[in-house]
Amino acid sequence: MSKIINIAIDGPAGSGKSTIAKIIAKKLNITYLDTGSMYRAFTYYALENNVESDDKENIIKLLENIDLVLDKDEIFVNGKNVTKEIRFENIDKNVSKYAAIKEVRERMVNIQRDISKGKSVIMDGRDIGSVVLPNAEFKFYMDASAEERAKRRYLQNIERGKEVPYDDILEDIRLRDENDKNREVDPLVVCEDATVIDTSDMTIDEVVDFIINKVNG
Ligand code: CDP
Repeated sequence: MSKIINIAIDGPAGSGKSTIAKIIAKKLNITYLDTGSMYRAFTYYALENNVESDDKENIIKLLENIDLVLDKDEIFVNGKNVTKEIRFENIDKNVSKYAAIKEVRERMVNIQRDISKGKSVIMDGRDIGSVVLPNAEFKFYMDASAEERAKRRYLQNIERGKEVPYDDILEDIRLRDENDKNREVDPLVVCEDATVIDTSDMTIDEVVDFIINKVNG
Protein backbone atom coordinates (compact mmCIF):
# COMPACT_ATOMS: atom_id res chain seq x y z
CA MET A 1 0.00 0.00 0.00
CA SER A 2 1.33 3.43 -0.85
CA LYS A 3 1.85 5.98 1.87
CA ILE A 4 -1.10 8.17 2.92
CA ILE A 5 -0.53 11.87 2.43
CA ASN A 6 -2.60 14.82 3.52
CA ILE A 7 -2.30 18.19 1.81
CA ALA A 8 -3.86 21.25 3.43
CA ILE A 9 -4.47 24.40 1.42
CA ASP A 10 -5.71 27.51 3.17
CA GLY A 11 -6.08 31.08 2.06
CA PRO A 12 -8.48 33.96 1.50
CA ALA A 13 -11.40 34.13 -0.92
CA GLY A 14 -10.52 33.73 -4.57
CA SER A 15 -6.84 32.92 -4.08
CA GLY A 16 -7.21 29.98 -6.46
CA LYS A 17 -7.23 27.22 -3.87
CA SER A 18 -9.96 25.07 -5.37
CA THR A 19 -8.76 25.35 -8.98
CA ILE A 20 -5.29 24.29 -7.93
CA ALA A 21 -6.41 21.61 -5.45
CA LYS A 22 -8.65 19.97 -8.05
CA ILE A 23 -5.79 19.67 -10.56
CA ILE A 24 -3.39 18.32 -7.94
CA ALA A 25 -5.93 15.74 -6.75
CA LYS A 26 -6.20 14.44 -10.32
CA LYS A 27 -2.45 14.38 -10.87
CA LEU A 28 -1.75 12.55 -7.61
CA ASN A 29 -4.91 10.44 -7.83
CA ILE A 30 -6.08 11.42 -4.35
CA THR A 31 -9.42 12.65 -2.94
CA TYR A 32 -10.24 16.36 -3.16
CA LEU A 33 -12.51 18.05 -0.67
CA ASP A 34 -13.78 21.61 -1.15
CA THR A 35 -14.68 22.46 2.46
CA GLY A 36 -15.99 25.88 1.45
CA SER A 37 -18.79 24.18 -0.48
CA MET A 38 -20.01 22.66 2.80
CA TYR A 39 -20.28 26.04 4.55
CA ARG A 40 -21.95 27.37 1.43
CA ALA A 41 -24.45 24.49 1.44
CA PHE A 42 -25.28 25.07 5.11
CA THR A 43 -25.80 28.77 4.36
CA TYR A 44 -28.12 27.85 1.50
CA TYR A 45 -30.14 25.64 3.85
CA ALA A 46 -30.33 28.32 6.55
CA LEU A 47 -31.47 31.00 4.09
CA GLU A 48 -34.05 28.64 2.59
CA ASN A 49 -35.46 28.12 6.07
CA ASN A 50 -35.25 31.81 7.01
CA VAL A 51 -32.96 31.13 9.95
CA GLU A 52 -30.72 34.06 10.87
CA SER A 53 -27.11 33.44 11.90
CA ASP A 54 -27.77 34.71 15.46
CA ASP A 55 -30.71 32.34 15.99
CA LYS A 56 -28.74 29.64 17.86
CA GLU A 57 -31.72 27.48 18.68
CA ASN A 58 -32.84 27.12 15.10
CA ILE A 59 -29.28 26.83 13.79
CA ILE A 60 -28.90 23.77 16.02
CA LYS A 61 -32.18 22.37 14.67
CA LEU A 62 -30.91 22.86 11.12
CA LEU A 63 -27.71 21.02 12.01
CA GLU A 64 -29.80 18.14 13.35
CA ASN A 65 -31.86 17.99 10.18
CA ILE A 66 -29.34 18.66 7.45
CA ASP A 67 -28.14 15.76 5.35
CA LEU A 68 -25.07 16.87 3.44
CA VAL A 69 -23.76 14.65 0.68
CA LEU A 70 -20.67 15.36 -1.40
CA ASP A 71 -20.34 13.37 -4.57
CA LYS A 72 -17.41 14.23 -6.82
CA ASP A 73 -18.03 17.82 -7.93
CA GLU A 74 -21.62 17.92 -6.73
CA ILE A 75 -23.18 18.72 -3.38
CA PHE A 76 -26.62 17.75 -2.12
CA VAL A 77 -28.65 19.13 0.78
CA ASN A 78 -31.35 16.72 1.93
CA GLY A 79 -31.39 15.15 -1.52
CA LYS A 80 -31.45 18.41 -3.51
CA ASN A 81 -28.53 19.13 -5.82
CA VAL A 82 -27.40 22.66 -4.82
CA THR A 83 -24.07 22.72 -6.68
CA LYS A 84 -25.07 25.78 -8.74
CA GLU A 85 -27.07 27.59 -6.08
CA ILE A 86 -24.21 27.68 -3.54
CA ARG A 87 -22.24 29.94 -5.90
CA PHE A 88 -24.97 32.60 -6.05
CA GLU A 89 -24.30 36.10 -4.76
CA ASN A 90 -26.62 35.80 -1.75
CA ILE A 91 -24.48 32.90 -0.53
CA ASP A 92 -21.21 34.85 -1.10
CA LYS A 93 -22.67 37.65 0.98
CA ASN A 94 -23.88 35.52 3.90
CA VAL A 95 -21.60 32.51 4.15
CA SER A 96 -18.94 33.98 6.44
CA LYS A 97 -21.61 34.83 9.06
CA TYR A 98 -22.81 31.22 9.24
CA ALA A 99 -19.26 29.86 8.99
CA ALA A 100 -18.37 31.79 12.15
CA ILE A 101 -20.80 29.75 14.28
CA LYS A 102 -19.05 27.30 16.60
CA GLU A 103 -21.65 24.52 16.29
CA VAL A 104 -21.65 24.76 12.50
CA ARG A 105 -17.87 24.48 12.39
CA GLU A 106 -17.77 21.53 14.78
CA ARG A 107 -20.18 19.60 12.60
CA MET A 108 -18.40 20.43 9.33
CA VAL A 109 -14.97 19.65 10.75
CA ASN A 110 -16.21 16.25 11.95
CA ILE A 111 -17.52 15.40 8.49
CA GLN A 112 -14.26 16.58 6.92
CA ARG A 113 -12.14 14.45 9.27
CA ASP A 114 -14.36 11.43 8.60
CA ILE A 115 -13.93 11.83 4.86
CA SER A 116 -10.14 12.02 5.23
CA LYS A 117 -9.83 8.99 7.50
CA GLY A 118 -7.45 6.38 6.12
CA LYS A 119 -6.95 7.93 2.72
CA SER A 120 -4.83 10.49 0.94
CA VAL A 121 -6.62 13.81 0.59
CA ILE A 122 -6.14 17.37 -0.50
CA MET A 123 -8.51 19.81 1.19
CA ASP A 124 -8.90 23.52 0.76
CA GLY A 125 -10.48 26.01 3.13
CA ARG A 126 -9.62 28.39 5.95
CA ASP A 127 -8.78 26.13 8.91
CA ILE A 128 -7.45 22.99 7.25
CA GLY A 129 -3.83 23.23 8.41
CA SER A 130 -4.75 24.68 11.79
CA VAL A 131 -7.80 22.62 12.82
CA VAL A 132 -9.03 19.96 10.39
CA LEU A 133 -5.71 18.32 9.48
CA PRO A 134 -3.15 19.72 11.93
CA ASN A 135 -0.84 16.77 11.21
CA ALA A 136 -0.96 17.16 7.44
CA GLU A 137 2.42 16.44 5.86
CA PHE A 138 2.04 19.39 3.51
CA LYS A 139 0.50 22.73 4.31
CA PHE A 140 0.20 25.66 1.95
CA TYR A 141 -1.21 29.14 2.36
CA MET A 142 -2.21 30.66 -0.95
CA ASP A 143 -2.57 34.39 -1.21
CA ALA A 144 -2.88 37.13 -3.83
CA SER A 145 -3.80 40.80 -3.83
CA ALA A 146 -7.50 41.52 -3.30
CA GLU A 147 -7.68 43.16 -6.75
CA GLU A 148 -6.20 40.11 -8.49
CA ARG A 149 -8.52 37.78 -6.59
CA ALA A 150 -11.56 39.90 -7.51
CA LYS A 151 -10.46 39.87 -11.15
CA ARG A 152 -10.21 36.07 -11.13
CA ARG A 153 -13.61 35.67 -9.48
CA TYR A 154 -15.10 38.10 -12.04
CA LEU A 155 -13.79 35.95 -14.91
CA GLN A 156 -14.88 32.73 -13.18
CA ASN A 157 -18.41 34.14 -12.91
CA ILE A 158 -18.44 35.00 -16.61
CA GLU A 159 -17.40 31.41 -17.36
CA ARG A 160 -20.33 30.25 -15.25
CA GLY A 161 -22.60 32.49 -17.27
CA LYS A 162 -23.24 35.31 -14.80
CA GLU A 163 -21.94 38.84 -14.71
CA VAL A 164 -21.42 40.37 -11.28
CA PRO A 165 -19.86 43.89 -11.23
CA TYR A 166 -16.14 43.82 -10.39
CA ASP A 167 -16.56 46.40 -7.62
CA ASP A 168 -19.20 44.31 -5.90
CA ILE A 169 -16.93 41.27 -6.00
CA LEU A 170 -14.00 43.25 -4.61
CA GLU A 171 -16.15 44.52 -1.77
CA ASP A 172 -17.45 41.03 -0.99
CA ILE A 173 -13.93 39.59 -0.98
CA ARG A 174 -12.64 42.29 1.37
CA LEU A 175 -15.56 41.82 3.74
CA ARG A 176 -15.28 38.05 3.75
CA ASP A 177 -11.49 38.19 4.37
CA GLU A 178 -12.11 40.52 7.28
CA ASN A 179 -14.78 38.22 8.76
CA ASP A 180 -12.80 35.03 8.19
CA LYS A 181 -9.58 36.41 9.69
CA ASN A 182 -11.16 38.05 12.71
CA ARG A 183 -13.78 35.56 13.84
CA GLU A 184 -13.38 33.93 17.25
CA VAL A 185 -13.67 30.30 16.17
CA ASP A 186 -11.03 28.83 13.86
CA PRO A 187 -10.07 32.05 12.07
CA LEU A 188 -8.04 32.04 8.87
CA VAL A 189 -4.39 32.10 9.96
CA VAL A 190 -1.04 31.35 8.36
CA CYS A 191 0.17 28.17 10.11
CA GLU A 192 3.76 28.27 11.29
CA ASP A 193 4.55 25.17 9.27
CA ALA A 194 2.77 26.30 6.09
CA THR A 195 4.51 27.33 2.88
CA VAL A 196 3.12 30.68 1.73
CA ILE A 197 2.56 31.06 -2.00
CA ASP A 198 1.74 34.49 -3.39
CA THR A 199 -0.04 33.61 -6.61
CA SER A 200 -0.63 37.20 -7.82
CA ASP A 201 1.89 36.84 -10.64
CA MET A 202 1.83 33.07 -11.09
CA THR A 203 -0.04 31.00 -13.65
CA ILE A 204 -2.15 28.03 -12.56
CA ASP A 205 0.47 25.64 -13.96
CA GLU A 206 3.24 27.37 -12.04
CA VAL A 207 1.38 27.01 -8.75
CA VAL A 208 0.52 23.37 -9.48
CA ASP A 209 4.16 22.56 -10.33
CA PHE A 210 5.39 24.33 -7.20
CA ILE A 211 3.15 22.22 -4.95
CA ILE A 212 3.78 18.94 -6.80
CA ASN A 213 7.54 19.49 -6.55
CA LYS A 214 7.28 20.02 -2.80
CA VAL A 215 5.11 16.95 -2.34
CA ASN A 216 7.36 14.77 -4.47
CA GLY A 217 10.39 16.09 -2.61
O1 CDP B 1 -14.13 29.94 -3.12
P1 CDP B 1 -14.04 31.08 -2.15
O2 CDP B 1 -12.63 31.41 -1.88
O3 CDP B 1 -14.90 32.23 -2.49
O4 CDP B 1 -14.64 30.61 -0.78
P2 CDP B 1 -14.97 29.16 -0.27
O5 CDP B 1 -13.71 28.37 -0.11
O6 CDP B 1 -16.07 28.58 -1.08
O7 CDP B 1 -15.51 29.48 1.22
C1 CDP B 1 -16.66 30.25 1.44
C2 CDP B 1 -16.66 30.73 2.88
O8 CDP B 1 -16.80 29.59 3.74
C3 CDP B 1 -15.42 31.44 3.37
O9 CDP B 1 -15.45 32.82 3.10
C4 CDP B 1 -15.44 31.15 4.87
O10 CDP B 1 -16.28 32.05 5.55
C5 CDP B 1 -16.07 29.78 4.94
N1 CDP B 1 -15.10 28.68 5.11
C6 CDP B 1 -14.62 28.43 6.37
O11 CDP B 1 -14.94 29.15 7.31
N2 CDP B 1 -13.79 27.37 6.60
C7 CDP B 1 -13.42 26.57 5.58
N3 CDP B 1 -12.63 25.52 5.84
C8 CDP B 1 -13.88 26.83 4.28
C9 CDP B 1 -14.71 27.90 4.06
